[in-house]
Amino acid sequence: MCGIIGFKGTGLVTAELVEGLQRMEYRGYDSWGVAVMTKKGIFVEKKVGAIGDGKLEQPPVDALLGIAHTRWATHGGVTKTNAHPHLSKDKRFAVAQNGIVENYLELKSSLQKQGYQFKTSTDTEVIVHLIDAKLKQVKIFAEAVRLAFLELIGRNTIITLDQQTEQIVAIRNGSPLVIGHLPDGGVLLASDTLPLAGKARTVTYLDDQQLVVINDKVSVFAVKTGKPLKLHQQKFDFIEQKIDKAGFDHFMLKEIVEQQYTIKEAVSYSDQELLPLIKALKKARTIYTVGAGTAAFAAGQIARVLRVVAKLPVQELKAYEIDSYLPLMSAKDLLLAVSQSGETADTLDAVGKAQKRGVTIASIVNMIGSTLSRGSQYAYLSRSGPEICVASTKAYTAQLAWGYLLAMTIIGKHKQAQAEIGKVAKKLKGYFTDQTFRQLQKLAIDLAKHEHFFVIGKAQHFYTALEGALKIKEITYKHFEGFSAGELKHGVIALIDQGTPVFGIVGNDQYQADVLSALAEVRARGARTFGITARPNEFFDVHIPAIDGGNLDSITKIIPFQLLSYFLGIQQKNNPDKPRNLAKSVTVK
Ligand code: F6R
Repeated sequence: MCGIIGFKGTGLVTAELVEGLQRMEYRGYDSWGVAVMTKKGIFVEKKVGAIGDGKLEQPPVDALLGIAHTRWATHGGVTKTNAHPHLSKDKRFAVAQNGIVENYLELKSSLQKQGYQFKTSTDTEVIVHLIDAKLKQVKIFAEAVRLAFLELIGRNTIITLDQQTEQIVAIRNGSPLVIGHLPDGGVLLASDTLPLAGKARTVTYLDDQQLVVINDKVSVFAVKTGKPLKLHQQKFDFIEQKIDKAGFDHFMLKEIVEQQYTIKEAVSYSDQELLPLIKALKKARTIYTVGAGTAAFAAGQIARVLRVVAKLPVQELKAYEIDSYLPLMSAKDLLLAVSQSGETADTLDAVGKAQKRGVTIASIVNMIGSTLSRGSQYAYLSRSGPEICVASTKAYTAQLAWGYLLAMTIIGKHKQAQAEIGKVAKKLKGYFTDQTFRQLQKLAIDLAKHEHFFVIGKAQHFYTALEGALKIKEITYKHFEGFSAGELKHGVIALIDQGTPVFGIVGNDQYQADVLSALAEVRARGARTFGITARPNEFFDVHIPAIDGGNLDSITKIIPFQLLSYFLGIQQKNNPDKPRNLAKSVTVK
């Protein structure tokens, strides 16, 4: 949800900023812009659309420092004018923001009364004018930024570039900011660690309500008091991972295919490494798993496997619906938060509320150094590498694999779980073939004419139905609804009409008969049935082959949905990596 970057150091400043934005493009791709400072002043260039090759018209080669931003619009349409950074009227400083100024209308009208004129429809412009107003009072740029910030309501992270003091001043609140200290003394400040990979040796993770001033040195202050704070630098061993498509047309397909490796990485934890969490889980009165979107479905699957395999009292929650559970929570409970980014505002908010009730926090996160990991007593990583496609695929299955390992380790079957995942990984390798791709491509052509789809599953396949439907909605913009097979007769069946496509996820398990009979019922009412399973069956009009993963069907049966959403998206001429209206890291509520 918007990517922010700042750079002060040697080399080509603009190129450094643009490369950083390219690495963070998944955070927002409506529009982008850079503001760099040369001896002659601040140069700003903005573009509408995704950053792509990052070409600018006239990037100055003698820039000394700069800031840049890739936008996911909240206030104000996607236009060049609304793109960040925004320059002050006197061109002295530039501002970029990640967040929402909730009181911007009040601030705007008060600034208008003071004579400020607004050129954009963004909430960011309020920050620009506020800083300008404060600067007239206090004269010190960083102090003006701090005082302006104190008037903002909402989760806002801002970055500013000042011509006069040759400073970058930034404040973190809500969405992340990490400072990368480069070996040659340069400093890169970014919304996540991807731009720092392979460049920074040490990093400083800013906490909320901290202000950083970057000039000849880096200084951190408390926003509320303005008092200096100690700069905590820590080793950064995020090896540069090539963020390229590795020959695939899109990151999405690459990341889907990578799952044959990533599920194994996710279960590389030894039983000893899982032990501290296992002890805490066993001690807990109630365990809650929580997440948002795809991560909420992963949280559902993890809760289910902890109940079924480890017999633990686990309840899955949606991060944004935690409130009614809070009165039940206490220091006796544990909350396991699931997230790809570790920066999702809804999830962090839920964790914060549970923390206030004394609940122990554990997490499984994909991104290294996230706010969620840093705020957890028991922090684990799903180890899938950067997930660039906005729709989550490999992080989801990695988290399911990790959840299975955790549950099996609790009952003393750590090695068995690793071996089972290893077998599934091998089977996946055999699944990702041209033959599978061609079959799903053909199916995509067949399905492209439909607008409404349903998918039914039961038990682990119920969560797969929900996640499968979400994937297809995100990438194809078609209406795809997931249900439990049991829910059908209680109302949903009214939607079935002649030719309605209904998918059924059929495992080789005790729920097989339930899903098959649900398919038979919809077929009797005119539905066209699609069976996602290992073998064809008389109940299916179309058989979509899927691997029989046994206990790990939650991993194997989501793959056909991921692939189908990809090919159907391509069929629709959508960009699967950058679905409309979506951003990867949802750092605003
Ligand atoms: C779906 C998707 C979103 C995220 C959700 C949570 O493909 O990517 O639904 O799963 O926004 O994000 P994280 O996992 O970063 O907390």
